Amino acid sequence: MPKPEIIIKANTAELAQHAARDFMETVVYAIRKRGIAYVALSGGGTPKALFQVLAQPPYQEAIPWDKLHFFWADERMVPLDAPESNYGQVQELLFRHVPADPNKIHAVNTSLSPQAAAEAYTETMRSVNLNDQETPRFDWCLLGMGEDGHTASLFPGSEPNPDTPTLPVEADYQGRPAKRVTLTPLAINRARRVVFLVSGENKAETLFKVLQGPQDVLNLPAQRIQPHNGRLIWMIDQAAASRLG
Ligand code: 6PG
Repeated sequence: MPKPEIIIKANTAELAQHAARDFMETVVYAIRKRGIAYVALSGGGTPKALFQVLAQPPYQEAIPWDKLHFFWADERMVPLDAPESNYGQVQELLFRHVPADPNKIHAVNTSLSPQAAAEAYTETMRSVNLNDQETPRFDWCLLGMGEDGHTASLFPGSEPNPDTPTLPVEADYQGRPAKRVTLTPLAINRARRVVFLVSGENKAETLFKVLQGPQDVLNLPAQRIQPHNGRLIWMIDQAAASRLG
């Protein structure tokens, strides 16, 4: 397993700038090597600044947006134009401003039941995959972390090693929509590069446990993310890093 790399930035604005550069360099490299890049995005408040930065110059012009396939690490089962939709957030903050190819934007079908949507998403991943694998190997997978240690929609107490790349989930967190579809470690850990974006003092204690505490994958799902053959990068702000030794 690769050791996680930890990058600490002074504040959320610097964090977003760093993540944007990392995103661009990664996808440009992937496109140069393989002609296409696969990314998975997350929801929540933390990546908003990143999406806003990517929607502006220089990234708006410098990234070959039409060569990117977009997926989501998790989605809330609300209409895609609802304010709580993870797809909707990216649509609003990013896709409205850049020439992404609509045929390469793969939203979870939230009009289905969670179970059917999860199965359909596995099928979507299979169908776009160029290398004939079960799931695409994401070039860049963006994750957040909740105060309870969840990531994507892998919540404390859930099965740590499910054998499907997607799952339907029901979990209450800070009043957000409870019904969700998530990628599982099976899909995420195949990524070439996984980037956790974490900010704020309210995450400091959990971050300390996840990164420097004992292994407890049942209660700290973020610890389940260990790319088999890729890099794991934690990008955090000083407030979230305040408990790290
Ligand atoms: C979601 C997310 C989720 C998120 C964390 C952190 O749909 O809610 O994808 O996993 O990344 O809950 O959210 P914040 O950035 O808002 O703290």
